[in-house]
Order: sequence, then structure tokens, then C-alpha cells
Amino acid sequence: PEPLLLQGKNVIVTAGPTREKIDPVRYLTNHSSGKMGYAIAEEAASLGANVLLVSGPVSLDAPKGVKLVKVESAEEMYGAVLDNYENADVVIKTAAVADYKPKIAYDHKVKKQPGEQVLELARTKDILLELGKRKTKQVLIGFAAETERLDVYAKGKLEKKNADMIVANNVTNEGAGFGTDTNVVTFYKRDGSATELPIMSKREVAAKILKEASKLLKDDQK
Ligand code: PMT
Repeated sequence: PEPLLLQGKNVIVTAGPTREKIDPVRYLTNHSSGKMGYAIAEEAASLGANVLLVSGPVSLDAPKGVKLVKVESAEEMYGAVLDNYENADVVIKTAAVADYKPKIAYDHKVKKQPGEQVLELARTKDILLELGKRKTKQVLIGFAAETERLDVYAKGKLEKKNADMIVANNVTNEGAGFGTDTNVVTFYKRDGSATELPIMSKREVAAKILKEASKLLKDDQK
């Protein structure tokens, strides 16, 4: 029988949105359901990997055989991923991490005031960027969620974040992106290739991504 593609490999997958606190009753977030990341975690486990799934708040159950670490904010996700990075063989950053958080997180509910309000924002830590800087043996796969110029932005992220592959999706396309059971993705790799895949289920996309990951692992071992 054929050996499992990722047998014994340590795979970290991030999934879902992050929540950036405004006060005890309010937060900033996005539309990520976690479906894409959970599908990757489930598929990786079925291929024999030891899977750590670092997930923002979603309403999905942890796939069987996957270790789940729940986080809320970008800061917490950063901590959970970096803590486990050294021993990871593959890291797949599917999570829709907030780029900004409220500059101040209030301990008490902010009361309504007459007139308009301005919410000041501060940058969050860029997890993928940091992983790229600290990369030793890891195969690093990022995502790019775009609404225009997929090609330019995805290639930019590949370079800037020192990733081995970027999985790009135009989230305005039918059947792609947030919340759907399907996705439409293009793989951008460091050899300059761009491979556009047809619409398929997120589980099928997961299988394609993991096949690439195992190829990239083998390339590294040469
Ligand atoms: O969860 P679903 O409903 O199934 O939807 C799937 C999805 C649309 C969330 C997924 O397919 C996807 O595109 N995920 C990436 C979303 C995103 O945040 O993309 P981005 O282009 O803003 O970020 C680029 C990369 O940097 C991503 O790998 C992201 O995880 C990472 N990042 C971003 C910001 C930050 N502070 N730290 C990061 O690591």
C-alpha cells in the first residue's frame, strides 16, 4: 500500500477569523467561517500528520484526531503559532487575521455619546511575516484573500512574507472565499508558477494544497 503523504509530519493550520476587542461587549472581526482551515486540518490528519489547529472563534467542531487550540485575537493566534513553530514541518495560514485592532480596548462598556465617534486603530502583528523571517526547515503556506488584482497581490505576499506558496482566492467570485463549501484558488509558487484550479469543495482544495506541501517538503530534503 502507498504510504500516507504526511505520515508523522507536524502540521500547523490556522483557521477562522480573529476578534479584536473594543470593550467587553463589542469587537472587530470578518466573515471567515473556518471551513477552509478545518478542511485542511481534517485532510492533513487523514494523511497521517500530527495536526495542530489554531482557530479563531467559529461554530465548527474540531475534526477527529486534530489538536485544537482556540484563540480570539491576532495577538493570541501569534502566541499559539510561534510557540509551536520550531518543531513544525508545514504551516498553513488559512486564518483571516485582523490587520488592525482598536488602539484602546476598554474594560468597561463604552457609553453612547451625542454626535459621531472615531475609533482609533493600531496594527496587529503580522504572523505570516514573522514566520517567514524565522523560517528554518518549515514549508510555509499562506493565503491571500483579494477582491481585485489577485495576481499582483498574491505574488507580492509570496515575496514579502518569504512563503513557499500562496493560495489566492478572489473572495468576490461565486463559490469562492468566505462561508461557502467550495472555493476557487490559484497556487503561486517560488518557481514563478501560477496554477489556477477549477471550483471544487474546500476538502478537495485541502487535498491539493497538502499534495503541494508534501512535494515542497521532499524538495527541501534533497
Ligand atoms: O473560513 P472560510 O469561511 O472557509 O473562508 C476562507 C478564507 C476566505 C478565510 C480563506 O480562503 C482565506 O483567504 N484566508 C486568508 C484570509 C486573509 O486574511 O488574507 P490576507 O490576504 O488578509 O492575509 C494574507 C496572509 O497573511 C494570510 O495567510 C493570513 O493568515 C496572514 N496574516 C494576515 C494578517 C496578519 N496580521 N497575520 C497574518 O498571518
